[in-house]
Amino acid sequence: MPGHKLAPSILSADFAQLANDVDRVTDVADLLHVDVMDGHFVPNLTIGPPVVESLRKRTELFLDCHLMVDNPRVLLDDFAAAGADGCTVHIEVGDPRPAFDEMRTLGLRVGLTLNPETPLDAVLPHLEQIDLLLVMSVHPGFGGQAFIPSVLDKLRAARRIVDERALPVELEIDGGIKVDNAHLAVAAGADILVAGSAIFHADDPAVAARGIREAAWPSAS
Ligand code: DX5
Ligand code: ZN
Repeated sequence: MPGHKLAPSILSADFAQLANDVDRVTDVADLLHVDVMDGHFVPNLTIGPPVVESLRKRTELFLDCHLMVDNPRVLLDDFAAAGADGCTVHIEVGDPRPAFDEMRTLGLRVGLTLNPETPLDAVLPHLEQIDLLLVMSVHPGFGGQAFIPSVLDKLRAARRIVDERALPVELEIDGGIKVDNAHLAVAAGADILVAGSAIFHADDPAVAARGIREAAWPSAS
């Protein structure tokens, strides 16, 4: 049974009033997506464990930390201590297994992700080791980019394999999700939709989030 989860990405929130922005989407969100960038794996710099620690005091939402960093292992301890619920690492930075082992030890949900140009084959050997596979539908680094439709084939293939193997792996899609394409991502097999600018750049983030939910899962809303 696919999930019906929406994960607002705080990358597009107003960091000067982050707590207020989180409060505005709390009732319509299932997870809070936290984009961590190191200025090296991606050409942008965002937030780290201290912000997660502050968020943890403010919300009970699942804190879904997407680590767009070259060396995630050095950060895992700090994210776990700060109150992260799950961390997702990129396959492009190398063998993820040591990071998976550390995440399990720390009690973090284990996520793996791949860039739009990375073939699904790269993550297939790891599907048995993870809780979450994140399919990037934009090039990581910035919010507000256009959705790359060709990743839907990859998502469909991932869905088929996860279902065939009956794996307890959730499929998440991240980048360019809006009210007009959310249903395509769900039809291709997404359990979790990440949306940043479509929610936080709207006049009313809660209304925008609800709109995405209704477009994505009409019978559930
Ligand atoms: C991009 C980030 C995304 C981003 C999505 O590198 O991983 O999570 O916040 O933002 P939108 O929904 O605006 O594409
Ligand atoms: Zn992200």
